[in-house]
Parts: sequence; C-alpha cells; structure tokens
Amino acid sequence: MQVLERATIMPVMRQDGKTVMQPDDKICYCYDVSLRKLWNFARQRRLARASQMCECLGAGTGCGWCIPMLKRVHTAVLSQQTADGLIDMTPDEYADQRRQYISEGKARNAF
Ligand code: FES
Repeated sequence: MQVLERATIMPVMRQDGKTVMQPDDKICYCYDVSLRKLWNFARQRRLARASQMCECLGAGTGCGWCIPMLKRVHTAVLSQQTADGLIDMTPDEYADQRRQYISEGKARNAF
C-alpha cells in the first residue's frame, strides 16, 4: 500500500498541462486537512466506513464540500489504488468549486 511520505512527489499533469492536486494540497478547507493526512489516516486506520474519515481532524464536519473527496480517498485506499491523480482538479479549480458550493447554498453533501 502506498504511503504518502513527505518526500513523495507526484507531479501528475492533465492533458491540458495543468498539475492536479498534490499530497500537500488542502482537501478540507474548513479544518485545513491535506490529501496526505487523509490518505495516511485511511491507510493506517483501515476504516470500514467512509464517514469515519471525519475522525481525521474533523474533515468533512464543516460545510460538507469535501465529503465526496473523502469518499474517493477512502475507496482508493480500500481498493489499494495509488493516490497519483486521484483528484483530477488543480488546487485553484478545487478552491473555485468550493467557493461556488458555498455561495450557492445547496444541500450539504453527505456520506
Ligand atoms: S471543506 Fe471539508 S467540511 Fe468544509
């Protein structure tokens, strides 16, 4: 199983040449939780349910924006995928989509 060590560098680029989310990019904006923290938490705890990802520094318990990403991380860890290119968005795109999610005030994402 892949461990996302500090030295891990995964410069995954899309076809448009833009670099997608990296291990130290923030997944949960409400609680400042990175992909690396979430990945390693899920890997070490071997969580039975995606909702248990909230136990990682409260990720997902705020606005709910990151819940689909928490599910994605959980599924990838369980199925022993790599984290490379797991989230096919640039950090700016991810932040923009969260801003839109907040401003639209839609129903909160759920597990
Ligand atoms: S971004 Fe994770 S709960 Fe708001």
